[in-house]
Amino acid sequence: MFKGILRVKPIEAAPHVDAGEPVEGSLEGEATLRRTLSATQLVMLGVGGVIGAGIFVLTGQAAALHAGPAIMLSFLMASVACALAGFCYAEFASMMPVSGSAYSYSYATLGEFVAWFIGWCLVLEYLFAAAAVAVGWSGYMNSFLGTLGIPLPEALATSTFTVTEGQFMRTGALFNLPAVFIVAAISALCYVGIWQSAFMNTIVVTIKVGVIILFVAFSLQFVNPDNWVPFIPENEGPGRFGMDGVVRAAAIVFFAYIGFDAVSTAAGEAKNPQRDMPIGILGSLAICTVFYIIVCAVLTGMLPYQQLGTPEPVATALQAYPSLLWLRVLVELGAIAGLSSVILVMLMAQPRIFYTMANDGLIPKIFSKVHRRYHTPYIGTIVVGSIACVLAGFLPIGLLGELVSMGTLLAFATVSAGVLILRYTRPELYRPFRVPAAVIVCPLGVAACLFLFWQPFREHWELFVSWTALGMLVYFGYGYWHSRLRICL
Ligand code: ALA
Repeated sequence: MFKGILRVKPIEAAPHVDAGEPVEGSLEGEATLRRTLSATQLVMLGVGGVIGAGIFVLTGQAAALHAGPAIMLSFLMASVACALAGFCYAEFASMMPVSGSAYSYSYATLGEFVAWFIGWCLVLEYLFAAAAVAVGWSGYMNSFLGTLGIPLPEALATSTFTVTEGQFMRTGALFNLPAVFIVAAISALCYVGIWQSAFMNTIVVTIKVGVIILFVAFSLQFVNPDNWVPFIPENEGPGRFGMDGVVRAAAIVFFAYIGFDAVSTAAGEAKNPQRDMPIGILGSLAICTVFYIIVCAVLTGMLPYQQLGTPEPVATALQAYPSLLWLRVLVELGAIAGLSSVILVMLMAQPRIFYTMANDGLIPKIFSKVHRRYHTPYIGTIVVGSIACVLAGFLPIGLLGELVSMGTLLAFATVSAGVLILRYTRPELYRPFRVPAAVIVCPLGVAACLFLFWQPFREHWELFVSWTALGMLVYFGYGYWHSRLRICL
């Protein structure tokens, strides 16, 4: 059995599919898509998948409860971990331009068990992130409805549960109706196969980035440098301010960077993946880091950090300045559009990962079923949408976000390790992009990601261990026995 779980999927040349050429069993929008994406579009795709609830929602709580003005430092720390992993993603994505991302890379390097585990972690990344961002969407939507004078009652706009000191408690609310609504609506779009075209993505990214630039440009005049002092507030206990708090906040805002790896899933549609994948991945990461740090500086400069712990901190900061109220409505609309696109990317990605895993036999074949008319993985879409609706309706964004970050950080650590392993096991493979100083960068990437992983794990280890145990049951109860590699070899 031990040998079985270590079986490695051979690295195959990525199939190059020309315009319109049908590929049996493929999903529309995947293998049959043309290779049309340019480097700029890949960067836009990255920015589209990245900027969302992390900056529009989580920043406020992280500053108010953990880091104070040093939230800028937390963003910088998280970006370093992402950059190290990003280099490794770039090497893999240019070498193996396939859409399974970290799952496929692990299958080719570390064996089936690790690949399956990473696939299971990616469920946390995509499915849970869709739910988390939907909760953020709900906050901005309700705030916008409030501006129109028709806010929803609290009982229908808040999650049913909250987590206080590791304990689940009822909030008194029924469930988060807008969050369920947006997940259901976007799942319906995914079902009929409305693919987020590069063109649509460009429009949404322009709105999102435009709103952020407007926010910075008009709010800069209200920044009071006194609010940045003390930069790192004194420690008040584990994870609350001081350097410990800054690191804790880095693990929380890591969520804000999730999505740049989604660029790697577009490798099959890039014109020149060998050259453009690294540009797309690292370029989007660099742009987002700059935006994030500037926005944090302005937010914490406009209001004392203690006042930013709301579900819509950007709108909260604007609310304090009557002359900026006009901008508040724009920010709300920008956030609503921007968060919708992140939810769409996540809800499109998850059924595709399931599709790949089902084709490999690791999860039931039903997930690889493609709709006759819409050519979408409709069963996966329904299952993913339904679970995401339940999560979005009942759980708070903080807990969802931390679960997402834990899953993603493990995937990043595995990808970083995988690059180094493959350098030794398959030195002959053609690598159009090579991680510079891989013997240093890869272990540093693993260490940085595991370090950040450890922060939320300390608090939520029961949840993560239960999730992993559930996954083990699925693998050893089903995946191991139905693996295509096992049957073929
Ligand atoms: N990075 C994405 C966001 O912040 C998941 O919403």
